[in-house]
Amino acid sequence: MASDTFSTPQAASAAGIDPAAPILLFDSGVGGLTVLAEVRTLLPDAPIIYAADNAGLPYGTKTEAQIAARVAGLLGRMTERFRPRLVCIACNTASTIALGMVREVLEVPIVGTVPAIKPAAALTKTGVIGLLGTEATIRQAYVDRLEHEFAADRILLRHGAPGLVEAAEAKLSGEVVDFAAIAGAVDTLRIMPHGERIDTVVLACTHFPLLEEELSRAFGPGVRFVHGAAGIARQIARLTSGQEWSRLQPDRALFTQHAPVARGNREMLARYGLDDVGML
Ligand code: DGL
Repeated sequence: MASDTFSTPQAASAAGIDPAAPILLFDSGVGGLTVLAEVRTLLPDAPIIYAADNAGLPYGTKTEAQIAARVAGLLGRMTERFRPRLVCIACNTASTIALGMVREVLEVPIVGTVPAIKPAAALTKTGVIGLLGTEATIRQAYVDRLEHEFAADRILLRHGAPGLVEAAEAKLSGEVVDFAAIAGAVDTLRIMPHGERIDTVVLACTHFPLLEEELSRAFGPGVRFVHGAAGIARQIARLTSGQEWSRLQPDRALFTQHAPVARGNREMLARYGLDDVGML
């Protein structure tokens, strides 16, 4: 069942949902934690399973077929195993490629993450918006459609920046962030025609809000960043409104390869309320 057919809170609560049924958040790596943080704020009692396909990281340099196969396969297995009440694909790359397909096949409400072009178009004063995403995201027809619908009278400059995914993963692992990679991505946008007038930047990859401080330093003053995490959390809260929550076990972070063992990584996951770490 697609989330849009699961339309009213009344319908959701009337469905007799197990109070211990988790919300499943899915990303290729740590990026989806930016969405999880917002979900925690709105739904502190919600049991959560955070699943990272780190065996497939990065998604952004893969083909559409590779990404769609991984996402559909993993979400199919995980929904059977964990019986979540709702799935959130906390990844722009996976959502812009596979959201429609997984909604067709999985009988659970699915919330996706797509580039926040609409709010950026409303915010920009100069009319020039930068969009930083993965290489796979920026070439999607989904993004063309968002641009056409919400930013047809704006200039949208897109850049696929795989180095930022790496930098965000490193930052959350407590490693030194490669500021040159961040400055390089910013320069690429700035030297595009009209790039000097960018005043609003869409962070179209869930990893990138983790680098907002560094990106802000690289862009300089007068640039605002927009991403979808808070809006996604509101959508999840709306779709689960009226449902009961009961956390019977610690919230889990599950990985498809090498669950992090370093103390720093475990502590970082614990800061997001993920106290149980394991393999999928
Ligand atoms: N966090 C993911 C996104 O929002 C992608 C990172 C990657 O695996 O390349 O697009």
